[in-house]
Amino acid sequence: MLNISTGGCDGGGLVADEHSGGWPKDLQYMSGFGNQFSSEALPGSLPEGQNNPLVCPFGLYAEQISGTAFTVSRRLNQRSWLYRIRPSVTHEPFQPRKPHHDRILGEFNKGNCTFTPNQLRWKPVDFPEIPTDFVDGLYTICGAGSSFLRHGYAIHMYAANKSMDGCAFCSADGDFLIVPQVGRLWITTECGRLQVSPGEIVVVPQGFRFSVSLPDGPSRGYVAEVFGTHFQLPDLGPIGANGLASPRDFYVPTAWYENDSRLDYTIVQKFGGELFTATQEFSPFNVVAWHGNYVPYKYDLSKFCPYNTVSFDHGDPSINTVLTAPSDKPGVALLDFVVFPPRWVVAEHTFRPPYYHRNCMSEFMGLIYGKYEAKADGFLPGGATLHACMTPHGPDSKIYEREISRGEDTPQKIKDTLAFMFESALLPRTCHWSLESPYRDADYYHCWSGLKSHFSADDGGRLV
Ligand SMILES: [Fe+2]
Repeated sequence: MLNISTGGCDGGGLVADEHSGGWPKDLQYMSGFGNQFSSEALPGSLPEGQNNPLVCPFGLYAEQISGTAFTVSRRLNQRSWLYRIRPSVTHEPFQPRKPHHDRILGEFNKGNCTFTPNQLRWKPVDFPEIPTDFVDGLYTICGAGSSFLRHGYAIHMYAANKSMDGCAFCSADGDFLIVPQVGRLWITTECGRLQVSPGEIVVVPQGFRFSVSLPDGPSRGYVAEVFGTHFQLPDLGPIGANGLASPRDFYVPTAWYENDSRLDYTIVQKFGGELFTATQEFSPFNVVAWHGNYVPYKYDLSKFCPYNTVSFDHGDPSINTVLTAPSDKPGVALLDFVVFPPRWVVAEHTFRPPYYHRNCMSEFMGLIYGKYEAKADGFLPGGATLHACMTPHGPDSKIYEREISRGEDTPQKIKDTLAFMFESALLPRTCHWSLESPYRDADYYHCWSGLKSHFSADDGGRLV
C-alpha cells in the first residue's frame, strides 16, 4: 500500500488551537502499518522516479535512514529517504553529555544491575519539583541483553514537567515505544508531528530524532526500548484476518519542517546506554519531504478489538497483544506489548480474573487509568509491577475471595480501566535505583498472604 500526503508546512489548512502554542488542533496523519508512505510539506519537493537525484528539488539534501540491514529480506526491510534542508552529518563532534545522566542503561549485567525472583511493585512517582524535560526525566527500571549486541530490551519510565527546548533526542540503541500515563506528548519528529494522549501509544524507531513538548505540564509514563528488532503486528492465526489492532488505526505523521538557524541546537543521542550531545546550527526537523516504510507512528488503544472466551475458562494474555518485537525463535517475543482494555467478561462457571501462574516469560505491567482486575488495591495508575521468569503471581486475596463467592454467571463489563504489559522471553535485571527506590512497595507480597486453604477432603464427596 502506498500512502501519499502533500500540503503546506502546517499540514495544509489546519485550524490552529489557541491553547496549543502553535500546534494545530487536529494534525493530519497517514493511516496504516508497515506501508510505503510518501509525504511532502512543499508540493514538488519529493523527487520523482529515483531516490538520489544529482540535484534534489528545491536544493534539498537526500539522506537515507536504515532501520534494518541493507540485505535483509524484502519482507523485513525498513528504510526511509529524507529530503532535508541541511543533512544530519553537519554537527560538532559528539561529547559525553554533561551533566552525566546516571540512570539510563543500554546493557544489563552483573556489574551494573541486580536481580531478584521476588515479586516487585512500585507506587507512582511524584512529579519533579525542579524543571525536568523528557530526557532528564527518563530513568531505566529493568532490562536484559545489550544494545551493543543488538539483542535485548530496556524498560524505562519518565516523569517530567518541562518541554524540551533547543534539543532533540534519539536512541541509537533501539525503538522507543512510549506509553503516556499523565499528560499529552507533542512529539516533533523528522517525519512530522504527532500528538499523543494518555490512552494512546507512540513508537519512535531507532535513530529518529524527536523532541517532546508537554502541553499539560507535569507528565508521566512508560517506555519499552527494544534492541536489534522492530515492533510488528502479531499474527492472528485462527482468529482470522481481523481483530486486535487493525493496521488502518496506526497513524504516521505527514512531512513538516522548520527552516531555523540556531547557534547551538543540541542533539542528545543515546548510544550504548550512554548519552552523548552534539551541537549544530539548525533544527533537525528540517525534512521537507520523505518516503519509505521506516517511520514513527501512534496508535489509540481504544481502537483495540479484544477477543476472549464466550463459553468457559480464561484466555492467555497473549490474546491481547497489540505489537510484538520478535526474537529469532518463532513464536517467542523479545518483547510483547499487551493491553487489558475495557471489555465484556462472560465466561460461565469460570474464575474470571487472571489465573495464578508462573511464566517462563517475564512480565512488567503498568496501569494507565482505573483499577486492574486482579488487584483490589496497591497497583495504582502510574505504578508498575515486575514478575520475572517463573515468579508466581496472580489475583490478590481480596479479589480471590470476592470472585469465588460471586455466585452468578451474569456478564460483567470491565470498564474504566486500561492496564498493559511488556512481556519478554529474556530474564530482566533490575536497576539498583529501582530496587532501592522509596516508591518501591516492599509489602507487595502481603497481598497474597491472606490466601487461605479452602481445601476439605470431605467437601461434597466429589473425591470419593
Ligand atoms: Fe502474569
